[in-house]
Amino acid sequence: MNQPVLGIDIGGSALKFAPVDTDTGQLTAPAQSLSLPQPATATALLESVRECRSIFSATKSFGVGFPGVVKSGVISLAPHLDKSLVGHDWLTDLKSLTNSPVALLNDADAAALAEMQFGAGSQNGTILLITLGTGIGSALIRDGFLVPNTEFGHLLLGDTEAEDLAAATVRTRKNLSWDEYGARLNQYLLEMERLLTPDLIIIGGGISENFKRFQASLHLNADIVPARLGNNAGLIGAALATTLAAN
Ligand code: BGC
Repeated sequence: MNQPVLGIDIGGSALKFAPVDTDTGQLTAPAQSLSLPQPATATALLESVRECRSIFSATKSFGVGFPGVVKSGVISLAPHLDKSLVGHDWLTDLKSLTNSPVALLNDADAAALAEMQFGAGSQNGTILLITLGTGIGSALIRDGFLVPNTEFGHLLLGDTEAEDLAAATVRTRKNLSWDEYGARLNQYLLEMERLLTPDLIIIGGGISENFKRFQASLHLNADIVPARLGNNAGLIGAALATTLAAN
């Protein structure tokens, strides 16, 4: 087995992290979490990453799934974090922590890499992965290739952004029943289906564990399944991305 790689998934309220065997996608120790620093600036988040690394100090290489747009290490959108991150080359900061390979990529893209390799997304065709959490993340895969940085969670449905309609946090904040929430999600996914005609839709994020509770509300032509790696898909994919960054 190769040295495990530390996978870190930055979410809207916490960082979740674990060492990952990138040959199998298995965690080599249970995942842990740290609260998101407030405000979540580049410096504060770097400190959190340093803390995650010190908890699993045997892992050298690490990857970070980030809840925003990342291009060549530079953050260009971070709706749930401190605005000062926008325009910041955070990958250079992360690389200062180690001489080993480091990856930084969008959180939903990370989840898609993991599901393609080890989970529900290995088939050919057009696959749309949607993560439902504080926001809505999206990843588009065509025949095993990922189109990075799609931001379909910000699609407008009338005057409402999709993530204000159907993110997982909207269900709890508005105290919606599973049927009410499922109807909102169906409205959003129907629109995505109209635009992209995917063969398969994968639902990720913590809510994927409750997939059966809202599945009956979803009326789509595409097959629709929960992420096989559940809420760990993001951190597993972040670890996996470092093996791609190293090549
Ligand atoms: C961000 C995406 C991210 C998603 C899930 C959205 O608000 O714009 O980049 O993937 O939240 O964290």
